[in-house]
Amino acid sequence: MEFSIRPLSPETAKAGCVVLGVHAEKELTAAARRVDQRSRGALSAALPDLSGKAGSTLLLRALPEVGAERVLLVGLGAKNEFAESAYRDAVRGAANALRDLGAKDAALFLVDTKVNGRPLSWNVRQAVGAVREAFYRFDEMKSQKKNSTPALAEVTLPLSPNAQLEQALEEAEATAEGTDLARTLGNLPANICTPGYLAEQAKKLAREFKLEAQVLERKDMEKLGMGAFLAVTRASHEPPKLIVLRYSGAAKSKAPLAFVGKGITFDTGGISLKPAGEMDEMKYDMSGAGSVLGALRALAGMKAPVNVVGVIPTCENMPGGGAVKPGDIVTTLSGQTVEILNTDAEGRLILCDALTYAERFKPEAMINIATLTGACVIALGHVATGLFANDEKLADELRAAGDDAWDRVWQMPLWEDYQEQLRSNFADFANIGGRPAGSITAASFLARFTRKQRWAHLDIAGTAWRSGREKGSTGRPVPLLVRFALRHAGRK
Ligand code: BES
Ligand code: MN
Ligand code: ZN
Repeated sequence: MEFSIRPLSPETAKAGCVVLGVHAEKELTAAARRVDQRSRGALSAALPDLSGKAGSTLLLRALPEVGAERVLLVGLGAKNEFAESAYRDAVRGAANALRDLGAKDAALFLVDTKVNGRPLSWNVRQAVGAVREAFYRFDEMKSQKKNSTPALAEVTLPLSPNAQLEQALEEAEATAEGTDLARTLGNLPANICTPGYLAEQAKKLAREFKLEAQVLERKDMEKLGMGAFLAVTRASHEPPKLIVLRYSGAAKSKAPLAFVGKGITFDTGGISLKPAGEMDEMKYDMSGAGSVLGALRALAGMKAPVNVVGVIPTCENMPGGGAVKPGDIVTTLSGQTVEILNTDAEGRLILCDALTYAERFKPEAMINIATLTGACVIALGHVATGLFANDEKLADELRAAGDDAWDRVWQMPLWEDYQEQLRSNFADFANIGGRPAGSITAASFLARFTRKQRWAHLDIAGTAWRSGREKGSTGRPVPLLVRFALRHAGRK
């Protein structure tokens, strides 16, 4: 699918499909008005059949005097409520209609509609993201693959091109590639997407995009003393991996950002076994890892002027004769000891050693990304990613990047008061803090390993995938991570 930015007239464009916006009050946008005039009121006549709800669509064919074969009307919702969500719903609705239609090329006249004071580059990024999201398909595991190249080959964004818009387009396409990668890694089942598979993917990215990949094996972790990580992987037959993937797009002297992603390729809970219902969804417990690989792919793909090091601890969390047991005490890479009171609180155990390991890259800031707690889903649902940080400026930057990418986060407190819940009679502290504030105590655990760093933690338990009929990875927070890295490097 090729996107391009070039000016077009909606009434004469020889496109397969021209997409035009209409507000719920049946008020046509400027482009729609031009087509209406040209066709002597054909749009106005059809309006009773369009609900006007954001994302609703109505297809019209062979309008008199109009250049395009088809016109797709898209509802923008009420005019006084038109904002980011309505714009995204409209583009998504249009993309779904174009997909079902099998249209080969389309001109999206929605993109020039002003959204809540956002620059047109925002419209471009969001439109490309929404179209690519609608056309993503995961049929790798079906015996009968559908046609893998979508019919929609060309999408025109009818705007007058300039350097800023072209850059937004390039960023959006690279971000979509990275998001698709994260989605596919998430959707792949745990018998295929193993720690070894993730390590191979990292090496493949390194070859394709000239990144540096390094993979530490169990014996390397033993030598280093990653007692917490090794405890989690004990009962699994799949060898654990610690993946390090570096992208250097800025001067060597510039300290990198470190993205540390939880890569539990399957979380059974271990001896603290999870209930059977919906346990299949624990294949998504490597979504943090997938988002790090996706973000690196995106940044490398657009040759972004940033340095990023991705660190991915990856293993399975399994029960078994050799498994770590509740009450076991391990020594982390940092030297601190941990009483493992619940083997299902494993994410923090692999992350703590990875965070300590990541210190050696002297990063400017460390961001870890993890499907860490069910409690985060209870707190924030499937809309906002949980944000925790030991540095307010970093938290502000992440929040702003999330708003910009429309991949939003909500900050939760990380006050010392919560540390009390992690106390242990036998080790330095425990790996769980009881039921109250489950997401915060998980973050508080990680905070004990990042005191020397500017650090933030993104809990993506509610946002990394969807359940039910629409089950599937969202690829979040790749758009946030990419936008954050770019804004951090000074890009608007
Ligand atoms: N991977 C889970 C968190 C999770 C659960 C994410 C459900 C999304 C949906 C994590 O490893 C876990 O099991 N956390 C426990 C922690 C508890 C034992 C303190 C949880 O959330 O129940
Ligand atoms: Mn768990
Ligand atoms: Zn987990």
